[in-house]
Formats: sequence, structure tokens, C-alpha cells
Amino acid sequence: MRARIAVLASGGGSNLQAIVDHFDWLGARRGGDVVLVASDRSNAGALERAARRDIEVAVIPTEKRPGGAPLDRLLDERAIDLIALAGYLRLIPPAIVARYHGRIVNIHPALLPAFGGAGMYGARVHHAVIAAGVRVTGVTAHFVDEVYDRGRIIAQWPVPVFASDDAGTLAQRVLRVEHLVYPRVVDAVAAGRTTLENCAAAGNTLLVDTRPSFTLLPHEDSRLAENIELTLGC
Ligand code: GRF
Repeated sequence: MRARIAVLASGGGSNLQAIVDHFDWLGARRGGDVVLVASDRSNAGALERAARRDIEVAVIPTEKRPGGAPLDRLLDERAIDLIALAGYLRLIPPAIVARYHGRIVNIHPALLPAFGGAGMYGARVHHAVIAAGVRVTGVTAHFVDEVYDRGRIIAQWPVPVFASDDAGTLAQRVLRVEHLVYPRVVDAVAAGRTTLENCAAAGNTLLVDTRPSFTLLPHEDSRLAENIELTLGC
């Protein structure tokens, strides 16, 4: 039986799109189905993307905008097995983190634990990376615990920072890798191939590509995807 996945997103939802597209490509081999997309923002692009795919959408009540089903009820009623955060800017309530132990994943646009934590999201991450003068950034997929960006790392992938980069160009390069890594991680966790226990026992799976595809030439997405699949696995 395939896992029932809820994607939580506050923004445009390009990672949601990447997950759904990857699952389409996997067809019957996919480990789960995205059955719910929920957001704290009623105007999130992610909700539009979901609606276009006939995926159920929900707006999660906030302090400023109460009303509607709270997240825990939605998860219960839709029998959600796995939660994938994709640009979701709120902390998941501790009771849900406890209940979904090892069943909440997130993607972060830097190499954690660097450039993570409260307030480190969106363009802020890439500004901070450039300001620090680091030459390598990347993406991190990780399990979620009760502290922002701290849970057990599942996979990381490096992305070069060029001297000519601004936050925009860097964000684009990183996002492209997110779209390759995250759907594969979500599928692996949904299918049970990757578990919190295995990741904890094995240590973090550091996905490092030292070959020329590291420069991310445009035609190399499929090779990069292949490398990611080969190295993924805790
Ligand atoms: C991504 O950079 C992701 O790493 C971060 O938020 C951004 C969401 O982008 N957590 P999108 O909404 O998926 O396009």
C-alpha cells in the first residue's frame, strides 16, 4: 500500500511540483501519493499547483486567522502517513512532531547545520551564504524534530557558489538540485527504504559528487539524478 503524503508549503510550491512530477514519472513504482497540500497562507502558489492537479488543499488556521480545521485534525481525517515540508515557514507543533516521529521530512537550501535555524529561510539563506564568502553551499534533506532545521540529516548535495553570484542566481542553482534530491528522498521515505533509524545508525548519508557534473551543466540533470539515486540510502 502506498503512503499517504501531506505536503505543507507556504510559498510557490516548486518543490511540491517536483515531487508530483517525479511520482508521475515513477508511476506504479512510487512509494506514496500526495493526497493533501496544506498552507498557512491562503494565497500560496503551492495551493494553486495542487488544485490544478486535483489534490485536496487546506489552509491551516493561524493566530491571526483562526477558523478551519487545525493541522492535527486534517492529518487524522486524511489518514496521513508522511508529512513533507516544502518551504513551510511555521514550526510544526511538538505534539505532531512526536506523533509523526520519523515521518516528517524537510528540504533546506544550504548544507546544514550551516545557514539554518529560526529566521533562515528563502533569500536570507543565500544572502548569508554569499556574505560568509563560502564557495560551496548545497541542499539538505532531513527528518524534522521540534527545532527548526535540526533533525537527522538524510541527504546532502553540494552546489558551487560563484564569485559572480547574487542571492537570486544562487537560489536558482540550489533550487534545481532541490528538485532532483527532494522528490527522491520523499519517495525513499514513503516506500520505507530510508528510515530515521537507519539514518541514525549509518550516520548521515553524505551525497558528494566530485565529478564534473558538480558544475551543473544544463544537459547533466539526468546524470546527476542517477548519481543521487545511486548514493541515496540510509
Ligand atoms: C526552497 O528553497 C526550500 O529549500 C525552502 O523553501 C523553498 C521553497 O521553494 N525550504 P518552493 O516553494 O518549493 O518553490
